[in-house]
Order: sequence, then C-alpha cells, then structure tokens
Amino acid sequence: MRHDHLISAAQLSRSDIETVLDRAGEVANDLGASRDSHPGLVLGLCFFEPSTRTKMSFDAAAKRLGGSTIDMGSVESSSVTKGESLADTVRVIEGYADAIVLRHPSEGAAKLASEFVHVPVINAGDGAGQHPSQTLLDLYTIREEHGLDDLTVGIMGDLKYGRTVHSLASALANFEVRQHFISPESLRLPRSVRFDLHEAGAQVREHTDLEPVLSELDVLYVTRIQRERFPDETEYRAVAGEYQIDAETLAAGPDDLTVMHPLPRVDEIAPDVDETDHASYFQQAHNGVPVRMALLEMLLENHG
Ligand code: NCD
Repeated sequence: MRHDHLISAAQLSRSDIETVLDRAGEVANDLGASRDSHPGLVLGLCFFEPSTRTKMSFDAAAKRLGGSTIDMGSVESSSVTKGESLADTVRVIEGYADAIVLRHPSEGAAKLASEFVHVPVINAGDGAGQHPSQTLLDLYTIREEHGLDDLTVGIMGDLKYGRTVHSLASALANFEVRQHFISPESLRLPRSVRFDLHEAGAQVREHTDLEPVLSELDVLYVTRIQRERFPDETEYRAVAGEYQIDAETLAAGPDDLTVMHPLPRVDEIAPDVDETDHASYFQQAHNGVPVRMALLEMLLENHG
C-alpha cells in the first residue's frame, strides 16, 4: 500500500485492502503481546465530533504499537471556539504528532487538512462523506466470516448520510460482491455514490424492503439513521424507527447470515439479536484495534 494519507475508500485497490487485512490478521493473532514496532510514535487525535470506538481504538492501536497519543479534546475545550481554522489547527498538531486522525462534521475536511501538513492524515469521518478505516475493519470482519468473493451483502438504513456506507460500498466494488441497498426512498444512496459504483462495474440493486432480499444475503450491514445530519428534525422523525430488525425478522433469513453495524445503534437492531449467532457487531468493533494497528504501521512505513 503506497499512500501518504487515507482520505477515501476509493483510494484503496483490492491489493491495498488485502495487504492491510493480511497484516491485521497477523497482528490479531498476537494482540496480547506488545508489538512495539513504533516506540516513540505520537498519534494526534483530532475529533471535532463525538466518537467512542474510532477514537479509543486508534488510541489503543497506537499504544499497542509501543507509541502514545495526544488528544485535542472536545471542540468546546479547544482553540476552535476562539475561531481557529482547521488548517491552522492541523498545522500546529503536525509539529506535535507523527500522524493525525481527524474527524470533522464537514465533508472534505480530511482532504483539506491533508493539503496543509506533511504527516499522514487518516480520515476518521468527514460529515456524510467517508470513513475508510471503519471500512477496513468492516471488510476484515466480513472476510473472517465469509471471505470476500462470491458474496451477497445487504446494506440497510441511512444510506444517504451514512459515511460508513459510502466507504464500504466503494471498497466492496473491488470484489465479486452483489450489493443490495435497502432504505426509504428519502435516504437512498447519494447519486454520486451510485455513479461511482456504476463506473466501477459493481453489481448493485436498491430496495425499500428487506424482506424480498433477506434470504439471499450472506451479510446484513445495518446503520443508524444519522439524526445529526438532517437539516430538519421533522424529516428525521418521518423515517426514525423504520427498518428495525429483531430475532424474529432474522429467523426468516439464512442460518449463517452475519449481522453487522458500525455502532452506535439506537433501536435498529433489537437486543434479542445479540443472543443469536448472527450478531457480529461487537466482534466487528473489537477488530478495529488490529486493523488500525496494521493501517498505522503501513502508513508510517510509507512515510519513512
Ligand atoms: C459511525 C460514524 O461515526 O460514522 N460510527 C463509527 O465510527 N463506528 C456510525 C454512526 O455514527 O452511526
């Protein structure tokens, strides 16, 4: 993998993805031991939006590589409230850190930041844009469960604002994967994402109901309705609570169906699914550590 930054899943070729996942597999086999491949590494965590998993798993990843992290803290406690621009913030942090993990509410923020600094920038979510490191751990999880070829994946929920969906769909287009998108009409995949999938020759179908495709799926990737992205609360309320699944819904599907979710969930997966063999979302979240360890190692190796 030869990239300076990780901004979008569209950067990743099939071979890039396989290289990171293979390395993550090696890391995962020996996660208990300290890897110490990067003693002295300082990773900058710059989160302008809330995060639990992404921030903590990058934090754990840096520490398990023998390094440490520095954290900008919440926007409210940072100089952003004094009117500092994103460009200035990251130009300062590059003097403190060997790489920057950035989450920001504006689409394009990570790309912009990467143009101002010389250390690797990892996009940890830019508004409704992209979230490529999440995609790597999603692919890792899918590969562990089913392999990555000759597969049928359903992606359901908020396909319009869900950045994990945009990244995952783009990365899956590198593999022999049939992609089914299930959402209300108002939360369909954005036109630009559909266009890119078409250009990539991906096998894509769209649905408003899960039921007709459920029996064909190997993986069902469920997403949260991204309330914070809706311009209008009444629009959110019109779709909130649609597309919920429970153990009974899944009883009509294949026995080996894998249910994934980037988390946090609200009410789209009922707690009774947790007790079934379908539930893979907690393992998926745990996979974030070895995958981000592998990713950091590879970006830092490129950076020299
Ligand atoms: C996702 C995100 O932030 O885009 N969470 C995550 O990183 N695991 C999904 C979400 O917030 O719904």
